[in-house]
Amino acid sequence: MKKILVTGGAGYIGSHTVVALQQAGYQPVIVDNFSNSEESALAGIESILGVKVPTYRIDCGNEAALRGVFEAEKDIKGVIHFAAYKAVGESVAKPLAYFQNNVGSLLTLLAVMPDFGVENLVFSSSCTVYGIPDALPVTEATPTKPASSPYGRTKQMCEEIVHDVSAAPTNKLRTILLRYFNPIGAHESAKIGELPLGVPNNLVPYITQTAAGIREKLTINGSDYETPDGTNVRDYIHVVDLAKAHIVAVQRLLDRKASESVETFNVGTGHGNSVLEVVQAFEKASGQKLNYSIGPRRPGDVPAIYADATKAAQVLGFKTETSLVDSLASSWKWQQTLK
Ligand SMILES: NC(=O)c1ccc[n+]([C@@H]2O[C@H](COP(=O)([O-])OP(=O)(O)OC[C@H]3O[C@@H](n4cnc5c(N)ncnc54)[C@H](O)[C@@H]3O)[C@@H](O)[C@H]2O)c1
Repeated sequence: MKKILVTGGAGYIGSHTVVALQQAGYQPVIVDNFSNSEESALAGIESILGVKVPTYRIDCGNEAALRGVFEAEKDIKGVIHFAAYKAVGESVAKPLAYFQNNVGSLLTLLAVMPDFGVENLVFSSSCTVYGIPDALPVTEATPTKPASSPYGRTKQMCEEIVHDVSAAPTNKLRTILLRYFNPIGAHESAKIGELPLGVPNNLVPYITQTAAGIREKLTINGSDYETPDGTNVRDYIHVVDLAKAHIVAVQRLLDRKASESVETFNVGTGHGNSVLEVVQAFEKASGQKLNYSIGPRRPGDVPAIYADATKAAQVLGFKTETSLVDSLASSWKWQQTLK
């Protein structure tokens, strides 16, 4: 079994990807400092797979510790780098922490990988790199605009760092940058899912916590955007579908099929849904009536963004499979295990 190092493998997207990797015949190895995850994610992974996944509780920015993992595991074939902070609002309050962690952990990884002959990297980027786009849907060729937060800027910087490192004459690194849209949902077993710490920033955990009675009501941030019903539009992708995109990306790198040293793919459904549509879909999926009201816009929110998913379909053969209603049903099932 080919070993794939998964940084941030105990997190939301990482845990689903670890499961998908093992099920696809790879040997995932987790590195996580548990700054935004719980040991319970490891128990969930083990319960789904029936095996323990080797896990190192270390910080990706700790070069000596990271070297120790590559040494101990010996024949790592590729890395999927999820480890980062991801809260947009928090990044405005703590920009330095975001640059240190998100950019710093990538730099450390890029310094260590070549010393162990590891040439394949899948990097977690984000649709936030597009800023507020001029036209929709966004393709990979859509020019990036100034990011609306330090978080978004860390993703832009990381992409640029990967391009510069790859352009060096002696470079052997091959990278696939996956620009995720909005991951939602949970594994069908409801043994792993999203564990937001504190008040959720994202719509779906806020909805499920409201339906579960943890929050009194959902406040929709603005209904006067230039969108069909006035609320924000996003491209919601089921996390298990998103996890599968990593498998095809890893396979492409290991098969040496990448056409350039850095390839970029949007990973979304290709459809935009408004906040009100998500609320209605959740009510259908759960049979619950949701308590919500309309509030003011939230600073920094992009009015609308969704993917042109053609390149991932044509080049990677990747297509999402799960509907919005089914994705929300899995979120609701997961939420009910948390009560
Ligand atoms: N969830 C989203 O909406 C979304 C959208 C686009 C991109 N992304 C990116 O995808 C990646 C994974 O996101 P997620 O939603 O799974 O987040 P998450 O917070 O659930 O997972 C990230 C994991 O990385 C770990 N981590 C953070 N810094 C670390 C470090 N220095 N060393 C070791 N471990 C560290 C955390 O403990 C956590 O387990 C991140 O890079 C994020 O920016 C997420």
